[in-house]
Amino acid sequence: MNAPVTVSILGLGEMGRALAAALLGAGHTVTVWNRTPGRAERLIEDGAIEAPSAGVAIDASELVVVCLFDHDSVHETLDPIVDRLHGRVLVNLTTTSPEQARELGLWARAGGIAALDGGIMAVPSMIGGPGSEILYSGDQSSFERYRNVLDRWGTSSYLGADPGLASLYDIALLSGMYVMFAGYMQGAALVATAGVSATAFAERSAAWLSAMTGELAGYGRVIDGGDYTVAGQQSLDFSDLSKMLEAADEAGVGAVPLAMVQSLIERQRGVGLGAEGFARIFESVRHTVG
Ligand SMILES: NC(=O)c1ccc[n+]([C@@H]2O[C@H](COP(=O)([O-])OP(=O)(O)OC[C@H]3O[C@@H](n4cnc5c(N)ncnc54)[C@H](OP(=O)(O)O)[C@@H]3O)[C@@H](O)[C@H]2O)c1
Repeated sequence: MNAPVTVSILGLGEMGRALAAALLGAGHTVTVWNRTPGRAERLIEDGAIEAPSAGVAIDASELVVVCLFDHDSVHETLDPIVDRLHGRVLVNLTTTSPEQARELGLWARAGGIAALDGGIMAVPSMIGGPGSEILYSGDQSSFERYRNVLDRWGTSSYLGADPGLASLYDIALLSGMYVMFAGYMQGAALVATAGVSATAFAERSAAWLSAMTGELAGYGRVIDGGDYTVAGQQSLDFSDLSKMLEAADEAGVGAVPLAMVQSLIERQRGVGLGAEGFARIFESVRHTVG
């Protein structure tokens, strides 16, 4: 294994505790702090050192990981002790917006702090196991220097120097996830009218949706090429969802997810572009009008 590192984790919520536990398992020296005491017991049993304040926790380590509730709680915790972070590496794994991550990047630079911002693509139980990924942006040399530590949590992916990138990708990936989940719920509501359980439909949906992800690369090529008339695409006219909406109505089922997609299609058909490919709804998505 690589040389052990001194790491402090600020914030022992569900996620902070999982991050700390994974590093203890790798033999690093882990100091922990939480605003409300009493959340470190299990970690202390496993070898963590509990600091009485955030400042003491920062003093203890070369690498400081922050996993708090939101951007405001990060500033509330770190602003009064910013001087103690000088010369250390800060990894902020608190969920923030891209602009908040950029603001924290400037704040860190002004304080002489090398900083990385991270987007955790996992739930706490996944940390350190297969399927867990954390996206990073910001100071590349810190990413490379501490890669062996970060890799204990899952796949570590560096996206670029702009501190807002990890958050931007995080939101972009979650956008796809939530809309996909809503699509599954739409289908589950439809088959429920025939007595099919959501559990049984989940199994069938998982296989179908997995197969359909093969279409994404083709859509990406069309969007990047900017030509929605490329041969071989399913047209917007063909993609019209009216019949599906009628079926939902007949079944007495609401159809907000379907209607949302139909509205994206209609905006392009409404300006005479129905013969072009389905990927053109990208233009409906990215422009608020037209
Ligand atoms: N859980 C997930 O599945 C997941 C997945 C991806 C990303 N994340 C992100 O990871 C971060 C932590 O999530 P979590 O699941 O660990 O949340 P959590 O269980 O609710 O824990 C929140 C933590 O933030 C602390 N906190 C809240 N306000 C504070 C303040 N003003 N000053 C200092 N500390 C404060 C809490 O301390 P107290 O104990 O004193 O309240 C607690 O340690 C969030 O930004 C979340 O979006 C979570």
